[in-house]
Formats: sequence, structure tokens, C-alpha cells
Amino acid sequence: MFKFSLFSPQPPLFQIKMDPETDSKLRIGFVGAGNMAFGIAKGIMSGGNILPANVNVSAPSNRNLGRFQEMGISVTNSNTEVVCGSDIVFVAVKPHLVRGVLNQISEYITKRHIVVSVAAGVTLATLEELLPENTVVIRLMPNLPCIVQEGALLFARGSHAKPNDAALVRSLLLRCGLVEEGPEAWLDIHTGLSGSGVAFVYLFAEALAEGAVKMGMPSSLAHSIASQTVLGAGQLLRDSGKHPAQLRSEVCTPGGTTIYGLHTLEQGGLRASTMSAVESATERARELGQNSATRK
Ligand SMILES: NC(=O)c1ccc[n+]([C@@H]2O[C@H](COP(=O)([O-])OP(=O)(O)OC[C@H]3O[C@@H](n4cnc5c(N)ncnc54)[C@H](OP(=O)(O)O)[C@@H]3O)[C@@H](O)[C@H]2O)c1
Repeated sequence: MFKFSLFSPQPPLFQIKMDPETDSKLRIGFVGAGNMAFGIAKGIMSGGNILPANVNVSAPSNRNLGRFQEMGISVTNSNTEVVCGSDIVFVAVKPHLVRGVLNQISEYITKRHIVVSVAAGVTLATLEELLPENTVVIRLMPNLPCIVQEGALLFARGSHAKPNDAALVRSLLLRCGLVEEGPEAWLDIHTGLSGSGVAFVYLFAEALAEGAVKMGMPSSLAHSIASQTVLGAGQLLRDSGKHPAQLRSEVCTPGGTTIYGLHTLEQGGLRASTMSAVESATERARELGQNSATRK
């Protein structure tokens, strides 16, 4: 059974601008209880400053609520209950559901709220149009590795979001991974690069492992070595601050194995097809955004 334990009957009269690093009273809500909400919730709670009692999550069914409840988070089937019990509300439903959800919660959004949408392609203009005038809105593009606190997150501010709102959201999300702010036009590129990019890396990891299986290595060993290779290469790339081409050349002994393999990858067009993959995913994100803006 799920316990519905939140709801603060009287919202505070003052404008709340708290620092999650120092103030454990900040109340966080998630409308939608899917993978993205779970990843962000895990990340923001990992610092220990946000207490589970101050986090609320809603979804229409109980299907995904159990894992939040296991973390001590209050769960409910009522979106409005989450909004009334939160200062920062993450809208984490599928893009086609955003319009209906915002119509439902809009009348409960007050000046103290910051609404953070993670819905791919749903523009700030659409979000602001569906929310009360002057609502502070942030559009955030996370990616799945938020679940292991190694996400790459880019956000853009709506027209009423101030630098201190951005600083608050950034500080809240820091434990989810890399958090950057940019113009809204970059969010679709970020979707192609990083949201979808995660799947491109998985495809590469799978192909690496399959190459090893072809050469006679048992599949489970090949897959664990491939995932460790992707992890180690990524960590070294990030932590060294070096350009990937430099790290690549450091692995290439003249006439050695790696340059032979790289030549094969270049012959297969890996570089061009990866660039085109980011381009197609970005264009698709833009297309979905235009559809969501025109759909009433
Ligand atoms: N997954 C990614 O890698 C990724 C990356 C970037 C952005 N995003 C964005 O994140 C958002 C969520 O994606 P996801 O992968 O987390 O989706 P998901 O796992 O399918 O979860 C969607 C959640 O929304 C809930 N929901 C459905 N209708 C609702 C309603 N009317 N009110 C409240 N909640 C409702 C679902 O409820 P039930 O639990 O009852 O089914 C479910 O908990 C999407 O907009 C997506 O574009 C995802």
C-alpha cells in the first residue's frame, strides 16, 4: 500500500530561494515517476542535503512508485498534491503528455515555484504559454546516466527565470553529473549529442564485444570488458582534459595493432556516420519540438 503523506495546506507567503547545499527544507516534486525522474531524484538525494521526506513523486499508476518509496520518498497518484507540496517541480512525463499535465497543475503553480521540464522537444515558449503568467520555467535536458550520477545535463532559462533560479537548479543537480547552462537552441543539439549519444555509445560497446566474440572470446567476458573499456576511456578523456585525438594518438604505436584497427574503422566510415547520427537526432528533436508547439 502506498502512503500519501505530503501536502502542505498553506504555501509560504515569501519567495523561496534556498540553497540545496545548506538548506534541507527545499521541497522537490516530480510529476512522472519514470526513469528520468528516478535518475534525477537519486542524484539530488545522494548529497544527503535533500531529505527523502522533502521529495514527492506522482504517477497515475503505482507501477513505478515502489522504487521511490524504497528511498523514503512520498508517493501519490495526485499531480496536484505534488505541486502543492513542492518548491521545485520537475515535469518528467513523455512529451505528448506535457500539455495535459500542465493544464491540470497550472492553477496550483504560484510565484514560489520553479517548474523544470525534462520533456524532449517541448519548448520554453510552449511551457510558458501553458503555465500562469510570470512562472519561473527551466527547460532541462538530462541523459540516462543521471541514474549513476554521471549524467550530462544542459538547461536553458525561461523568460522569467533569473540567474539565482538557475544557480539554485544547477546546485541541486550537481550530483547528477555535469550540469551546464546554454541557450535553448543548444538543447536539441544536446539531445543528439548526449541524450541519444548514450545509445550510440551502447551500439559501439556492443559491436566491440561482438568483435571479440567473433575472435573466440566468451560473450559474457567480452561484454564486461567492452563496458569497462568504454567506462575507462570516458573517464580518462574527461579527467585528462585532453582532446580525444591526442589520447588516440597516444595509444597508436607506429605499425601497431591500434592504427590497423583505426584504419578499418575509418574505411567503414565510423566518423562520418557518427557525425550524421548526431545531426539526424538533433533534427528529429527539432521536428518533435515544432510538432509539440503546433499541437493544441
Ligand atoms: N529517458 C531518457 O533518456 C530521457 C532523456 C532526456 C529527457 N527525457 C525526457 O524525460 C521524460 C520522461 O521520460 P522517461 O524515460 O522517464 O519516461 P518513462 O520512464 O516512460 O516515465 C514516464 C512517467 O510518466 C508517468 N505519467 C504518465 N502519464 C502521467 C500523468 N498524466 N501525470 C503524471 N505522470 C504521468 C508514467 O506513469 P506510470 O508510472 O503510471 O506509467 C511514468 O511514471 C520524457 O519527456 C523524455 O522526453 C528522457
